[in-house]
Amino acid sequence: MLITPQQLCFFTNAEKARMPSEKHDEKTEWGTFKDSLKAPIHSWFTYPAGFSYKAVESSFKAHHITSGDTIYDPFMGSGTTNLVAKKLGIHSYGVEAHPFVFKIARAKLQWEIDRDEILHALSQIEHFVHAHKKQPRSRSTQDVLHNEFPELLLKCYEDDTLLELLWIRNALNTIQLSQESYDFFFVGLTGLLREVSSAATGWPYIAPNKKKTTSANKIPLTEFRRQMYKMLEDIRLMISEAIPTYSDSQHHLFNADSRDVTDLVTDKSIDHIFTSPPYLNNFDYADRTRLELYFFGEANTWGDISQQIRTKLMTSATTQISRNDLRYTLSEDLRQACPDVYVHLKEAIQVLSERRLHKGGKKSYDLLVTGYFNDMYCELKEAFRVLKPGRSAVFVLGDSAPYGVHIPTDEFIGKIGRGLGFSDYHITVLRERGGKWGENPQRHKVKLKESIVTLTKYP
Ligand SMILES: C[S@@+](CC[C@H](N)C(=O)[O-])C[C@H]1O[C@@H](n2cnc3c(N)ncnc32)[C@H](O)[C@@H]1O
Repeated sequence: MLITPQQLCFFTNAEKARMPSEKHDEKTEWGTFKDSLKAPIHSWFTYPAGFSYKAVESSFKAHHITSGDTIYDPFMGSGTTNLVAKKLGIHSYGVEAHPFVFKIARAKLQWEIDRDEILHALSQIEHFVHAHKKQPRSRSTQDVLHNEFPELLLKCYEDDTLLELLWIRNALNTIQLSQESYDFFFVGLTGLLREVSSAATGWPYIAPNKKKTTSANKIPLTEFRRQMYKMLEDIRLMISEAIPTYSDSQHHLFNADSRDVTDLVTDKSIDHIFTSPPYLNNFDYADRTRLELYFFGEANTWGDISQQIRTKLMTSATTQISRNDLRYTLSEDLRQACPDVYVHLKEAIQVLSERRLHKGGKKSYDLLVTGYFNDMYCELKEAFRVLKPGRSAVFVLGDSAPYGVHIPTDEFIGKIGRGLGFSDYHITVLRERGGKWGENPQRHKVKLKESIVTLTKYP
């Protein structure tokens, strides 16, 4: 049986009447992730999946979260939620499964770094690089670079630029540093990598064969030094804007899998959850950081990235999926918690398993949807467990229409949450997206949206 996207995406009128309003809440300022590109500390690393710090502030305000309360972000990413919490003296928990992104978040929360140690280390790094520049070379630059880096890196940089970046990296690994200071430099250098590249290394995709002009004449060591001073100034600015007792707040950040945090976050200990899970849109978080992982030698191949990162993240991209994997069966627990969503999903998955056979890429969207909702079920269950009664969990997410089959993620997450014991859910439409796809005959014409789903636990 073939069902239309329209049949799949909507509930009965009776169900809709019971549903909370979808009107945009004018009082709340959600902002966009671009706000964070200009803000002190938030701007240290451009994580395209991040949301605006203003959205976090608004949510804390709307839910009366104040200094001394405890919040949790199960998809911490680069740490926006936790950073806002620290500024306001709110305790926080954060869990991020991607080890590289986790290190970025950890560095952004460390404001108590030793300024003298940083300045001393910075001059050591500069000495190290200058000494290498002067040294006669036994091997050609090309030889050195080929030995150190995969092809992608060689295509993204002029040789001299990459060589200088390598010296900075090696200096960092040579000098003695506390973990906080190492993290600080690590983020500074990471933030620079795309800026000094000669190729189109913007987010989300890297096009090594496309040259850009803005990197011209950018000398890595000069930019690095500038960035370090800016970061020190950012910390000073952030502290001056933070509440005076911000340093009393505690922040527990874990490089872990938030599908099960029983050992990390205790029952009924959290006053508010503010988070943005991966969207159901085939965005491969592991691949997006390939340039950085290759540069730091944390991975050298696609296989390394799969083994070290893809397998650790919840399902949100077909690149994580093997069709032989038996885990991709829609969960029985989900069926019990929310039979109607289970039925809708089963139908959608069936359509996708047929539709893929007629598409060039034969993408496993059927298994992607299965894995995504199995994982989100676990996430919602954990969110319910850790929240205090009467408190709310806020999810920023988008819906999707793989192969034209609309999956109303916001409604499904709300309903599954209710099936797990949340008293109710509320959906606010943040923005509509994907309208332009209508002009491209290769893409589907389903209009998509980003929403805020708020789930509240009975008092
Ligand atoms: C939409 S991003 C969150 C961005 C974040 N709000 C920020 O401001 O940077 C989703 C994040 O979830 C992470 N993630 C995916 N699966 C996870 C899991 N099982 N446990 C914890 N984090 C996970 C991804 O690596 C990604 O960083």
